[in-house]
Amino acid sequence: MIEKIQKLIEEVARFNQQEEKQIEEFRLKFLSKKGILNDLFADFKNVPSEEKKDVGQALNQLKQAAAEKIEALKNQSKENEVQRNVQDYTKPGLPSPVGARHPINIVKNRIIEIFKRIGFSLSDGPEIEDDWHNFTALNLPDYHPARDMQDTFFVQQNPDVLLRTHTSSVQIRYMENHQPPFRILSPGRVYRNEAISARSHCMFHQIEGLYIDKEVSFADLKQTLQYFTTELFGKSKIRLRPSYFPFTEPSAEVDVYWGLNSETDYRMTKGTGWLEIMGCGMVDPNVLKNVSINPEEYSGFAFGMGIERIALLLYQIDDIRLYFENDLRFLQQFQSER
Ligand code: DAH
Repeated sequence: MIEKIQKLIEEVARFNQQEEKQIEEFRLKFLSKKGILNDLFADFKNVPSEEKKDVGQALNQLKQAAAEKIEALKNQSKENEVQRNVQDYTKPGLPSPVGARHPINIVKNRIIEIFKRIGFSLSDGPEIEDDWHNFTALNLPDYHPARDMQDTFFVQQNPDVLLRTHTSSVQIRYMENHQPPFRILSPGRVYRNEAISARSHCMFHQIEGLYIDKEVSFADLKQTLQYFTTELFGKSKIRLRPSYFPFTEPSAEVDVYWGLNSETDYRMTKGTGWLEIMGCGMVDPNVLKNVSINPEEYSGFAFGMGIERIALLLYQIDDIRLYFENDLRFLQQFQSER
């Protein structure tokens, strides 16, 4: 029996066919249920006990050799296939997987599109800011209690250099360098010293809007916002709730009427039907003075919203961490979106 096995081992070693069909025939011959190895193992019980050790070893050797051979030939044939494809330049190229836009970018672009249609253009500013642009010029002088509303990351113990806590800083930069009238939109990252949870993050995105001209009124602000919510959410019913921001007077919180048509609506709006989407107001005359624009001549409105929050409403994603974990299973869901 040993000799027979040795011969088979040699046969395995000689076998060198590359075609898939022949490799499969070889596998059937040796390793299938009705193959040689199974027969040999079945005969094994008839082997005299003093030969069992040697025959057993030889059998295992044969089995291993056959399995390794098949594996090696299969890999080789795969490689040959790739080589053939590479060398044949008339064949179409290999498909490359298509990526998806990040949901934050999708929402940002949609918001930009909507405001571009009514004459807003883009403007941006640095993420590392100074105190003047992030706070003081926005009517938040030193020791103003409203500074506590936004926990700030300072850069290197220097209280004058910080990571901007909102995109309102871009308003100041723009107004310092341009004469009204203008309408600008400023998307970007902002940073706050907050613990990361489902609801808050130390980095997120905002979009700031600013419109300065002669005789801009609160009614213009309301019309603009109503146009915006209709375009983005398909919802035109909004309300402006009195609020406080140092850089606007009067200030308001904008709620959009989402409705109460489903269980989700009830949950999202806590049973009220209303959802808060942003802050806004008429630019405070002090802010205009800080950038040498005459508040007697010009007026305007500003607004600011968090992009994650808007995306949350559009896609019903209620954990902000998902946006930043780069989990492909999450990101791939946005493949069909523009
Ligand atoms: N900067 C505010 C924040 O981060 C948002 C904001 C509110 C911006 C009112 C504005 C505004 O321009 O008028 O919470």
